[in-house]
Amino acid sequence: MRAINPRGLRHTGRAALGAAVVAVLGMSGSVQAQSGLSINSGEVTYADHVAQIITDNCVVCHREGGIGPMQLTNYEQIRPWAPLIGVRVANKEMPPYSYDDHIGIQELQGDWRLTEEEISTITQWVAQGAPEGDWGDRSHPVADLPDTDEWNFADQFGQPTLILDSEPIDVPAIGNDMWHRPYVYTGLTTDRCIKAIQVKPAGNAKSVVHHANSDVEIMNADGEYEDYGQLTEYAMGKWGEIMPEGVCRTLPANARIRWDIHLFPGGVGATAPGTVIEDNVVEIGIWLHPEGYENVAKYKQDLKLYRLDEGELIVPPHGTAMTQGFHSFDHPVRIDSFQPHGHLRMRAASLEIYYPATGRTEQISQISNWSATWHHSHLYEPDVAPLVPTGAVLVIKQWYDNTANNPNNPDPDFWVVAGSRTADEMTHAWIAITHLDDAGYAEILAQREAAKQRSVAGQ
Ligand code: HEC
Repeated sequence: MRAINPRGLRHTGRAALGAAVVAVLGMSGSVQAQSGLSINSGEVTYADHVAQIITDNCVVCHREGGIGPMQLTNYEQIRPWAPLIGVRVANKEMPPYSYDDHIGIQELQGDWRLTEEEISTITQWVAQGAPEGDWGDRSHPVADLPDTDEWNFADQFGQPTLILDSEPIDVPAIGNDMWHRPYVYTGLTTDRCIKAIQVKPAGNAKSVVHHANSDVEIMNADGEYEDYGQLTEYAMGKWGEIMPEGVCRTLPANARIRWDIHLFPGGVGATAPGTVIEDNVVEIGIWLHPEGYENVAKYKQDLKLYRLDEGELIVPPHGTAMTQGFHSFDHPVRIDSFQPHGHLRMRAASLEIYYPATGRTEQISQISNWSATWHHSHLYEPDVAPLVPTGAVLVIKQWYDNTANNPNNPDPDFWVVAGSRTADEMTHAWIAITHLDDAGYAEILAQREAAKQRSVAGQ
């Protein structure tokens, strides 16, 4: 079940590498057989079955001013794309949310995946020649969506409490990767807790902002700024982050933000403008909890970069590689979100928990068709977010494919090593962790057990 549907939401990321994916999969991708889910035994028509699915799940990006390369708001627009829609939907490339269906936790917030039934409806419709059908006295459904430059969480939370702009910079139409590292001041005079956060490249800058990290710095006793921790992270296609209720991701008083923005002149991919982008500004929108929330919230949450073994990261020409990272904590924690990171050769990632006490390993998440175009922070629903006892080990694995079989690979003849250019590779994951104590851990376990008993009793 989805807590947030793309309906009403809007994705601000520009597709970076889509062209290569489309070129390869568009030709060789086949519509996979669906597993006996023929809910529509008769004729499947656009008017009766398909229009609502597309309106609810695709129009958010495929509309005027949206980031999709074409509009999908009526039958005339959609009809010529029907065969390709069938392929992209069957291969689970559209809507763009790669996350394996049958492994680990499936209850995610902001999950854009279609249900098997919706996928089956679309592929059957395409197989039947994509007929329009009869509207009778109905009219075409209309998506009720905010403006394309609106904040993603505006519907839920209104406008951000705080908007922090990076300093403007011009990005040329062609040239090498650029890094932009300005400081901005929050102006907050008391510690506050962050409720949600989104990084948004302004206007046409979306296609040239490869990533934008932001760190918090606070002044020490000597009057010098020192590192406090990570504020957030953005990479192309990322939606935003919502913190779970009852925890505090602190934004300290009197802080400044250190930006680290990686720009890619000319942009990349199908929707890149290939022009000079003037006054490129990246904004962070921060929704804060009311003052005093830090006294109510029992536990701290933070977002950190967890490294895999970068020393191992050498991907030979026409070869593959795999990295692993292990992390454990001296107190119990809850994992709130997981976002693997790599570049063009990374193809898959997984998160597991190893329990030394039992010798058991549990699979939490796997993304087998990873693409650098879409960086999703997979937010676990709070009532199933993995609880990790003291000493249990997070096992993170990432896989790299430098062969011609990788549709994102720009050049399989290259040696690829760790580095920050788009053509290099990276191997880490961003993980949001709530730091618990033994009492808090026991309390959450007890709540979950009670909920389970209630649902058993209710059946
Ligand atoms: C979050 C934004 C987003 C959503 C939601 C979305 N798309 Fe897309 N779509 C894109 C972008 C960006 C591209 C171009 C890059 C790429 O192909 O990955 C694209 C490409 C496509 C293409 C290939 C176009 C071509 O020229 O090859 C098809 C077909 C498509 N989308 C269909 C759909 C359908 C059908 C849905 C809903 C079931 C959907 N999309 C939902 C953003 C989106």
